[in-house]
Amino acid sequence: MKIFVIGGTGFISSRVVEILLKSGHEVYIFTRGRSKKRLAKNDRLKVLYGDRNKFTDVKNAIDRNNFDVVYDFVAYQPSQSKICIDVFKGKIGRFIHCSTVSVYMVSGELRCPITEDQVKQPLMNYWPRNPFGMDYGIHKRKCEDLLWQHHNEKIFPVSMLRPTFVSGPADPARRDFFWIERILDGQPLLVPGSGDFAFQQVYVEDVARAFLALLENPSSLGKAYNVASEEMYSLNEYLQKLSQLLNRSPEIIHISQEVFDQLSISTHSQGDVFPFNTRRTATFSLEKIKNDLKYQSTLFEVWMEKTIDWFTSHQSEHSIGYENRGLEVKLLSLYTKEKNIFHSHFLKQSSG
Ligand SMILES: NC(=O)c1ccc[n+]([C@@H]2O[C@H](COP(=O)([O-])OP(=O)(O)OC[C@H]3O[C@@H](n4cnc5c(N)ncnc54)[C@H](OP(=O)(O)O)[C@@H]3O)[C@@H](O)[C@H]2O)c1
Repeated sequence: MKIFVIGGTGFISSRVVEILLKSGHEVYIFTRGRSKKRLAKNDRLKVLYGDRNKFTDVKNAIDRNNFDVVYDFVAYQPSQSKICIDVFKGKIGRFIHCSTVSVYMVSGELRCPITEDQVKQPLMNYWPRNPFGMDYGIHKRKCEDLLWQHHNEKIFPVSMLRPTFVSGPADPARRDFFWIERILDGQPLLVPGSGDFAFQQVYVEDVARAFLALLENPSSLGKAYNVASEEMYSLNEYLQKLSQLLNRSPEIIHISQEVFDQLSISTHSQGDVFPFNTRRTATFSLEKIKNDLKYQSTLFEVWMEKTIDWFTSHQSEHSIGYENRGLEVKLLSLYTKEKNIFHSHFLKQSSG
């Protein structure tokens, strides 16, 4: 098939492109050409340049070609999905959108494991510290809503995947590396809250295989699927498993969520810090994707070994927030010695 991929050099999209090429498809990627990632040369791979936010760039890119399928990995705002609807409606056999489980996690009332139909649950009150991204989830939901409004099996057939935290070698969010780097430095680990809430990650290669399976399986038309690892852990269990793989046994110190939220190190301008602190259980039903797409996930030990290898041999930058690691350790030592003073100081501050 002839496939147009919006994105194609990103963490997830580059793996999807590789797997599409391996399966014999002809792939045209569409990017601004800013990403440093270079895909391996392949006669069936073409690179088109343009900005997906500009209708004319997208239109001009496809003008001389007829595509069977379009994948969109770069829709974060409904205006971006709208451009795709305007350009591709009536011209393609399949539109595949990359969504996220954050579309659920902006709702207050959820039943775990979260099934795909729960995307209709009402929005919670605005929660700036939503660990799944409040604005991100709201906007991704709007992208989905718009695409479903235009879904039509004949002229605009939509399918989508909702991945949870995507991990693996070269993950630009460096979520696993946040913990790997701290476990390896031998200092105690700060865990916000109880660390008891279950969550799921997903290996990037499993996501790529699921995106290919969507295309190959006509029963996925008009459907959205969760994609996650079949294994679920609490943050405490995750840290224990990760420490075992790294042959370390770090001291773990829990700081109450209320106190943690007052600390300057609890947020970072560059992205997620203390990742997988989901603050409530966030597990996702995989029944639909297993039934329709015969999905199976890779074992945690298998993909995490590869992830550890990659980060410990290739990563030149620190994980996000590591410049504050000294302060983190000092705070932990103070917290252990003066827990009561710490609590009354911070909790007084937050109530006053
Ligand atoms: N990472 C996670 O844990 C996670 C979880 C759930 C869902 N997701 C979803 O996964 C998707 C991100 O996938 P990814 O990791 O492959 O993407 P990514 O790392 O964000 O890469 C984005 C790709 O799109 C291109 N791009 C960015 N802006 C563009 C523009 N204006 N016009 C044209 N091309 C543009 C980039 O190349 P240039 O910069 O060269 O243009 C690059 O090829 C998003 O839809 C996100 O919601 C991610």
